[in-house]
Amino acid sequence: MKILANDGISAKGISLLEKNGFKVMTTTVAQNQLGNFITSNNVQGLLVRSATKVDKDLIDACPNLKLIGRGGVGMDNIDVAYAQQKGIHVINTPAASSKSVAELVFAHLYGGVRFLYDANRNMPLEGDSKFKQLKKSYGNGKELSGKTLGIIGFGRIGQAVAKLALGAGMKVLFFDPVLDEVSLTLSFFDGQSVTFNLLRTEKEELLKASDFITVHVPAQKKYVLGKKEFDLMKDGVGIINAARGGVIDEVALVDALESNKVSFAGMDVYESEPRPEIRILMHPKISLTPHIGGATNEAQDRIGIELAEQIISYFK
Ligand SMILES: NC(=O)c1ccc[n+]([C@@H]2O[C@H](COP(=O)([O-])OP(=O)(O)OC[C@H]3O[C@@H](n4cnc5c(N)ncnc54)[C@H](O)[C@@H]3O)[C@@H](O)[C@H]2O)c1
Repeated sequence: MKILANDGISAKGISLLEKNGFKVMTTTVAQNQLGNFITSNNVQGLLVRSATKVDKDLIDACPNLKLIGRGGVGMDNIDVAYAQQKGIHVINTPAASSKSVAELVFAHLYGGVRFLYDANRNMPLEGDSKFKQLKKSYGNGKELSGKTLGIIGFGRIGQAVAKLALGAGMKVLFFDPVLDEVSLTLSFFDGQSVTFNLLRTEKEELLKASDFITVHVPAQKKYVLGKKEFDLMKDGVGIINAARGGVIDEVALVDALESNKVSFAGMDVYESEPRPEIRILMHPKISLTPHIGGATNEAQDRIGIELAEQIISYFK
């Protein structure tokens, strides 16, 4: 049976599938030729990440297709309801990248409190001529330890962030409308573990009490953080968005950065992705990454293996 991994799949995923008798094709076929390729090669499983679109037209063009797999979480690029209506099995790997996103949140947080985003811009330009001035301007950093992290959205990624925060000595508050209490177990390298019970904090309280706020909700119709929310926050709060563009009002964020209400922001996702606004890209108080939260080698391996295991169990 043939599987086309049109946006790629890890070597571990390919090897597991091949060991179980599947033929894996990793050619990246252009969107407009995909229907023809799938049908003429009798591909029965199509694996995508976020680049390939699996819409009604493509589904209609591939009557032999039995399975569509998304490596990652969001299914926005797949017409899941239509595929299922046509009898196609749809799978994804929602948990595979949670740890990777959580670590990126901490990369932005640790970078934020020590001005790494700005030092890395200015050291190449002035590090040799103005070393002492730069040393002085970045010399009033803060520690994360002992500070309060507010997590809005406490699903897989929010909880992975909380575990890192607890390990870093932070106080953790969370808000999630569907969760009252969450028990988190931190497992350590030598088999020891510690379990924490956390109770929900209402959103307004979290906004007022947090030194840093990170958002881990799915795509929303309304902003989760806008002017009203920024106004409630502590002066000098740090904000992270590694969830979705459109979760934070970027205009209100820039205003809050300008007024020093927010001291820095870490952003992996943008309202106008894939062309983020210039005033976001050029802002000296924003730490920037190009939507790479889930993009680690370890997450790619887990995604490949999880997809392969689901495919094997579905077809066998
Ligand atoms: N940066 C990246 O590369 C990257 C990678 C993977 C996932 N993500 C994004 O991370 C986000 C979270 O993913 P996840 O796997 O943790 O999802 P999840 O479904 O496990 O958890 C989301 C949680 O948010 C809660 N929620 C929904 N609306 C809310 C609101 N208005 N206020 C507070 N809580 C709310 C839900 O109840 C749920 O518990 C998604 O938007 C996903 O697209 C980003």
